[in-house]
Amino acid sequence: MQLLAVIISYLLGSVSFSFLAGKLLKGIDIRQHGSGNAGATNTLRILGKGPAIAVLVLDVAKGVAAVILGRWLGDGNLWIPILCGLAVIIGHNWPVFFGFRGGKGIATAIGVLATLSFLPALFAGLIAILLIVITRYVSLGSLVFTALTPVFLAIMGRERELLWASLIIAVFAYVRHRSNIKKLIARQENKLGASRKQG
Ligand code: G3P
Repeated sequence: MQLLAVIISYLLGSVSFSFLAGKLLKGIDIRQHGSGNAGATNTLRILGKGPAIAVLVLDVAKGVAAVILGRWLGDGNLWIPILCGLAVIIGHNWPVFFGFRGGKGIATAIGVLATLSFLPALFAGLIAILLIVITRYVSLGSLVFTALTPVFLAIMGRERELLWASLIIAVFAYVRHRSNIKKLIARQENKLGASRKQG
């Protein structure tokens, strides 16, 4: 039953809402436009505000649902919601339904981390949002969010399992943002509301 919860979480994560929005609304593969990422930020660039908000909400909801499923079937074992949370992010990043080419996992990680441990994720999220407002770099905010959540988990003395989970999620985020990191360093990163660069 617990293994099933992890598998269902991976499959749920593999449902790429930005890809589906691109196909349904414009008949395009969103991964061939803008930054090439199947996520809410690129949906905003290519499809506009409404679809981007819908994709963001649905991607966050996937993360929330996976952790709740893990808690429900986990018999009080904290590792089960954690594994479900990791599985839903892996599904989002490397979706079985779309050739293993998905997104960067941040919206789904927000759902996972906020459901696993709300306040540390909230504090990290508020700082990330402030940074995005100031710099207009969503990728920078994403990286700061995933880096700061383990810090707040540690400061607030939360379970060691949660700390490990958040560190793994941060590693996923940094691996998936390699091209963004290069562009941030080169000062060539896409800003919110600016014209697009591929990659
Ligand atoms: O969560 C994805 C965001 O951090 C960057 O997206 O499309 O600018 O690479 P994008």
